[in-house]
Amino acid sequence: MIASEGINKPSTVDTNQAGRERKLLHTIRAADDVLKNNLYVVTLNGKEYRRTVPSKEFYVHQWNWDSATVAMGLIHVDPERAYDELRALVSGQWENGLIAQITYNPTETKYYPQAPKWHTEQFRRGEIVTSGITQPPVLGIAMDYVYRHSPDKEKANKFLEEVLPATMKYHDYLKKYRDPEDSGLLTVVHPWESGTDNSPRWDSSMTHIDLSDIPQAVKDDVDANRTDDKLGKASHRPTQEDYYRFMGLVDKFSKLGWDYKKIVAQSPFAVKDILFNSIWARANEALAGTLESVGRGKEAKKYRQWAEQTKQALADTWSDEHQQYCDIDVAQGRHELIVKPTNTIFAPLYAGAVTDEQLPKVLARLSDPEQFWTNYPVPTAALNSQKFELTRYWRGPTWPINNLFIAEGLSRYGSRSALAREMGVHLVDTTLDMISKDGFYEYYDPTNGAARPGRDDNATKFGFGKFSWPAAIYIKMYKDKEALRH
Ligand code: GLC
Repeated sequence: MIASEGINKPSTVDTNQAGRERKLLHTIRAADDVLKNNLYVVTLNGKEYRRTVPSKEFYVHQWNWDSATVAMGLIHVDPERAYDELRALVSGQWENGLIAQITYNPTETKYYPQAPKWHTEQFRRGEIVTSGITQPPVLGIAMDYVYRHSPDKEKANKFLEEVLPATMKYHDYLKKYRDPEDSGLLTVVHPWESGTDNSPRWDSSMTHIDLSDIPQAVKDDVDANRTDDKLGKASHRPTQEDYYRFMGLVDKFSKLGWDYKKIVAQSPFAVKDILFNSIWARANEALAGTLESVGRGKEAKKYRQWAEQTKQALADTWSDEHQQYCDIDVAQGRHELIVKPTNTIFAPLYAGAVTDEQLPKVLARLSDPEQFWTNYPVPTAALNSQKFELTRYWRGPTWPINNLFIAEGLSRYGSRSALAREMGVHLVDTTLDMISKDGFYEYYDPTNGAARPGRDDNATKFGFGKFSWPAAIYIKMYKDKEALRH
């Protein structure tokens, strides 16, 4: 048992218990309103789909890992919508099993790249149009969570009829195409697949994508049509060169006919991503758990084995020299460790992959106020690192989605380490307080928890507003915390 010697607990967290509880409850209602506001109803192939868009200010389609997370919040406030959310998420699944990063709402155009830019027509399910890459596979975790928290067993079983086979097929796709060498670690081929698009951990891999190899037409298209830097604040967003590379990859993959055997082998960007793989391990455990609870234990075995294999492989990426787990750049025959001080190095906690020997070292790094244990932890890049940028997306600010994984990861180690338990509880408290203070933004200032510096100045807010992720995560964290008390 690792003892807790007292961690930095900034006085910024409201200590007036009664007042705090009132405010938190009020925020639950506000979170529910945001999720209602972001509901999008669309009829495709003659069927009505209900999905939640991340933010109507910019992200007006269905995003894979956002949607899965949102379902885990919705099950507590509107179970029917939670089932529908995941049904809609799997509705565009490709024949090979891929569940895409984006499922498009066909009439919406403000998000760039729009659907036609992907050239994925031949993989469409009728009118359901998607992008061609994926995102962290939170789906299995969400399916299991929604199933277990469902107030109505009959409806929950009905929900599984559709979502369980799709989830199994998705996992089979990921294993087959993204880990052809059976290493236990899946390969992601685009920074957008990692979900942490603009993270400093991709900086060196991005420079391997030669700008002169990207067709001029692709660059012209970005110059003429990119919208994120106009609808949002340009200084918070990726650079123009990053966007050339993002769209250069899309162009390359579509020219390879979206054949993932070729893409994984030939992509100039290919990494074994620690966060993606930690989610993958946990999703396999969750999927196996669902199968076991519906009497399909035999089929569960394969997914349990995959989870164990990935956990071992994650533990093996630990570098004692750098005191962190490392992503690995495997593009075009490379095998280079990526050593960057980002908060994704704590994701193996979520997978349960951290060994007894590694645990104190991981906690020492996370609890350091100079690096990650800021007033409102956990910044996407270490506060004292040269890479840290206060407002640029994925390069400094605190994101609720990372906090969800880290807090649940810490609690997984709570019985072995008092410090992990204490940090997990504190992280839930600061995340709830942060969201309740300023509302539902894409990300927050890790030093003071603000999302609207200057409060009424819309132009300087952190990312886009009325955001579904913080709303759903707020509800989930709050309810899970309640459940722990009883
Ligand atoms: C940004 C994020 C990505 C997220 C999407 C919608 O692209 O980088 O992780 O899924 O927004 O919220």
